[in-house]
Amino acid sequence: MKLIFATNNPNKVKEIRSLLADKGYEIISLKEAGIDIDIPEPYETLHENASAKSGTIYKMTGINCFSEDTGLEVTALNGEPGVKSARYAGENKSFEANIDKLLLNLAGENDRSARFRTVISLIIDGKETLFEGICEGHIILERKGNGGFGYDPVFQPKGYSTTFAEMSLEEKAAISHRGRATVKLVTFLNTLAANT
Ligand code: IMP
Repeated sequence: MKLIFATNNPNKVKEIRSLLADKGYEIISLKEAGIDIDIPEPYETLHENASAKSGTIYKMTGINCFSEDTGLEVTALNGEPGVKSARYAGENKSFEANIDKLLLNLAGENDRSARFRTVISLIIDGKETLFEGICEGHIILERKGNGGFGYDPVFQPKGYSTTFAEMSLEEKAAISHRGRATVKLVTFLNTLAANT
């Protein structure tokens, strides 16, 4: 089955492809679909942003598609940066500036617990289904590792002594928020395929 993944983030495409490899799905990025738009994320919830992105692409193409929105929710910051994670330190969406701001805002804080939450919106033949994935962990004191993207160098998942940025794509995908939401997406697609 051909599915457009409505994102302009090549890291996310790489991660999702590694999760869907050999499962019979052809994942087309926006770029590969010839779509050159930056879909806005103006809403206050991950769910609304994800729905807006997949809805926009489905209306434009009529092709089955999905999108996702992810936020880092930090307990001591009352769930911030949350839905504003990409633009935490400003409109230019700098990963480095976002991490700097996060570490500054957590300076001296004992409770450094945090979680990543992903919401996927899938549209098949015009019908939307949502999937959620959560990864609990905490924010370490300074950056560790060169892999991944976004907040990966400062996020250490619960039960691990390494950050996401120190893990391989496969290791991260096996326990990550996006990985968990994608497993639910794949289960749903497989059930759909078995019943048609
Ligand atoms: P969005 O879902 O593209 O809006 O991402 C929101 C923000 O969270 C961006 O700054 C991303 O870099 C960050 N983010 C999303 N997923 C991950 C991840 O798996 N690891 C680290 N940061 C992430």
